[in-house]
Formats: sequence, C-alpha cells, structure tokens
Amino acid sequence: MKQLDVVTLFPEWFDWFRTQRHVGNAMRDGLELRCMNPREHTPLTGGQVDDTPFGGGAGMVLRVDVMDAALRAFYNMDPVDLKLQRRVIALTPGGRVLDDAYVDELAAEPAITLLCGRYEGFDERIVQHYASDTLSVGRYVLSGGELAAMTVADAVIRKLPGALGHADSAVEESFSAALGGNPEYPHYTRPADYRGWSVPDVLLSGHHEEIRNWRRARSAERGESRPGDSTP
Ligand code: ADE
Repeated sequence: MKQLDVVTLFPEWFDWFRTQRHVGNAMRDGLELRCMNPREHTPLTGGQVDDTPFGGGAGMVLRVDVMDAALRAFYNMDPVDLKLQRRVIALTPGGRVLDDAYVDELAAEPAITLLCGRYEGFDERIVQHYASDTLSVGRYVLSGGELAAMTVADAVIRKLPGALGHADSAVEESFSAALGGNPEYPHYTRPADYRGWSVPDVLLSGHHEEIRNWRRARSAERGESRPGDSTP
C-alpha cells in the first residue's frame, strides 16, 4: 500500500497515530497517510454534516450530499467513479469482519480510502454508491469509525516491508498463513527462571529444528482452543 486516505470529522486524532514508530517507518518508505475532514467541504451552513434519520429514531446520520462534496473536492471526480480506481471502505459494525486475510488483501492494494461514520453512521446511499467494501472491526458498536480506521491502518501498515524493525516480524505472527492461520506460539525472555516459573527447556537448547517444531505444535494447540472465539 502506498496511499491511505481517511475521511473523518476528527482528523486530529490521527496526529497521535502518526507518532508510532512503525507508522513513521512506513511513511519514510513512501506511504502517504492523508486525512480529510468533510466539515471543511460541506455545502451546508454552520459546518453541518449530519441530520436526523428519516422515519425517526435516536442519533444523527452523516449526509450523502456532504460526503459527495467532500470526496469530490478531495479527488476532483464524481465519487461514484472513485471506487473504480481504488478500494473505498465504509467502516461499519455490520461490515465484513476484519481478519488476517482481509488485512493482507488491503496491504496489497496500492491505494485505499477509509470512510469513518459518526453517531448513528452513514446515510445508506454513501455505502451503496461510494463504497466498494464495508469493514467491521468486530460485532460491537464504537462511537465512530475512527478507532476502527486506526485498527485497520495499524494492522495493514505493520505488514508493509520495512515498517517493523525486523523483516520477518510480521510473517510468522498470529493468524498468518505461515502459522496455518493459528495464533502465535508463546514467547519467553530473561530471566529463564522467575519465582520458580521456568522457560521450556527446548527454547534454551539452541536446537533450531526442535524449537521450530515446538513452536508449530504450541501454535496448533492454541488454534484448537481459542477462548471466546465463535468463528469456525
Ligand atoms: N463504527 C462503529 N462501530 C464499528 C465497528 N465495530 N467496526 C467498524 N466501524 C465501526
């Protein structure tokens, strides 16, 4: 991925996100991370971006005309055509649930746009006509798409070459193809013994083959029993 754009009413939240080392590394290696605030482009008065839902109910809904104006101003094209050129992802609790395979798919895309909803979310026409995908970070409701966007950005950016210090760090980690989709094996560091809790002997043995086998076995074991995981 070379360009990650986030459409958000709270672009300043991402100032913190950029301070992380792996994000800085990826940006130094050419990743462009841009934020755009629909409030700056709204055709409505007083910076209005949302409205009450037709049919009644609680909360506010992000307006389709506001999203249209924002995307049009930023990309200089009809946003209906934007999704033909790049993945445009609406963040919503009911969307396609993020997993390692989805992250890999996104990391392979040259350019992505994440649309953050707020309050009760988007006018459905934004999702229908401007988004190529929907994405959920889990079946629970956040107060807006920003934390979900940061979750996606973090998971994708750590997959980019050079983002993590060690080139292999993101290859053999939890849920990766390298581990057959299983959670990662347990890690230990010094001290080798603490309060009588000792590190498995094999890890101190220096036998690389045995260590590899032990790790694969522990990873597979964890794959058998994932606490609280209801997915197949
Ligand atoms: N916006 C609000 N809740 C969300 C979730 N769980 N995933 C993605 N976007 C969201």
